[in-house]
Amino acid sequence: MFHSQIQDPNPQASEPTSRLVGGTEYSWCRAVPTGTGITVLALLLSKPPDISLLQNALHKLQNYHPILRSKLHYDSPSNTFSFITPPLPHLQISAFDLSSTSQIIHDHDRDDVTPFHLILEHELNQNAWQNDNTCDTDVFFVRTYALNDTRWVVVFRLHTSVCDRASAVSLLKEMLKLIGDEREGEGIEVEYERKSEVSLGIEDFIPSGKANKPFWARGVDMLGYSLNSFRLSNIDFVDASSIRGSKVARLRLDSAETQRILEGCKSRGIKLCGALAAAGLIAARSSKCLPEHQRERYAVVTLTDCRSILDPVLSSNHLGFYHSAVLNTHDTDGTETLWELATRTYTAFANAKNSNKHFTDMSDLNFLMCKAIENPGLTPSSSLRTAFISVFEDPVIDESNGLHQEIGVEDYIGCSSVHGVGPSIAIFDTLRDGQLDCACVYPSPLHSEEQMHQLLDEMKRILVDGCNSES
Ligand SMILES: *[C@@H]1O[C@H](CO)[C@@H](O)[C@H](O)[C@H]1NC(C)=O
Repeated sequence: MFHSQIQDPNPQASEPTSRLVGGTEYSWCRAVPTGTGITVLALLLSKPPDISLLQNALHKLQNYHPILRSKLHYDSPSNTFSFITPPLPHLQISAFDLSSTSQIIHDHDRDDVTPFHLILEHELNQNAWQNDNTCDTDVFFVRTYALNDTRWVVVFRLHTSVCDRASAVSLLKEMLKLIGDEREGEGIEVEYERKSEVSLGIEDFIPSGKANKPFWARGVDMLGYSLNSFRLSNIDFVDASSIRGSKVARLRLDSAETQRILEGCKSRGIKLCGALAAAGLIAARSSKCLPEHQRERYAVVTLTDCRSILDPVLSSNHLGFYHSAVLNTHDTDGTETLWELATRTYTAFANAKNSNKHFTDMSDLNFLMCKAIENPGLTPSSSLRTAFISVFEDPVIDESNGLHQEIGVEDYIGCSSVHGVGPSIAIFDTLRDGQLDCACVYPSPLHSEEQMHQLLDEMKRILVDGCNSES
């Protein structure tokens, strides 16, 4: 993965390089200032982080992944964004000591969540990319917090245009490995190859012919997408007028429950994302006390990591945003079982993917996201909700290992903010040592904590009961 070589001092390497953002990256550049797409990876540690060692490791990551040392530049006359990539790593860690950390925790005081959780939420709402278009902004920030004498938190915060979920997972693995190497002294002599230019955006890697779409079909689909948003159901908006932030609730199942759900999916030839979306739909409809059999139509967004189907294929440690979204709508009248609806939602997604919708509709969905940002009034109650729920096609799979223990990783959560344009609930699922652990991000106070906890409790009950009463 990394090449050890002595750096050849290249005179050209002293000039920053620059490239315009691609279409999908551009829509993230528009979405992030509104509050959607602040990606945070938070680690709870039982050992104090060694700041200089961490900084070394981060500089190596910045050397190897030019995108991580890039800055976002906005050019207002042409209304374009570009990545400006300086030749050298420059990231500085901000370290919060006990008293500044406790001040932050105090400001957000809530009894029902851990200090680690509060720091995660605090970070999801740190928007370095808001308003200020006059100077170039880093895309990667790292902070450490001291919770008390036995617990510390390390947080990575990234602009989603440079870091999708697969990137975040890969970044974490590489960083843990680098820290492990540094601790053992292996890293001292090794200079990681410095790459000078950022890679291209997803649009440049779509296999030829796959994004083509007849002009008329584009028009029809666009109309379908935009008209649909008025006919779509949402869960109730508790407060649609106050300024929004992102909050997180966690949905966790034990190993036995997780195993039964995975088996239930496997026996039906579907993926976990179908079961999660279906449980969400059933819980959403039942939260609304509707007359029996009244149909409701909800939108489900499924995010799919395209790296393995691009041309050329990209490896999982190829950092950037290489996901695509598939938007499906589903009617439910409250009579469906979990597995009926799970099969229906998954099949709709799989069919869309089979007909290349994740490629053909990419620019349409990007366009609609930007339209909603420009005209919030096009969305119900100006809520900026474009779907009820978003899920990933595949969960992150994580087996804890010796390295986790050595560094003292007690817990970690990776997710992304949604308080700008986006779904009511975004599910970031991980299978951690065989247990399903979902970070569910929602806009607050558009939706309340109580409402979300009820919804997630109900989803959990539906998933667990659905497996007990096989049908
Ligand atoms: C330190 O914080 C952790 C995590 O919030 C908590 O579980 C632990 O009890 C705290 N320890 C002390 C000594 O306060």
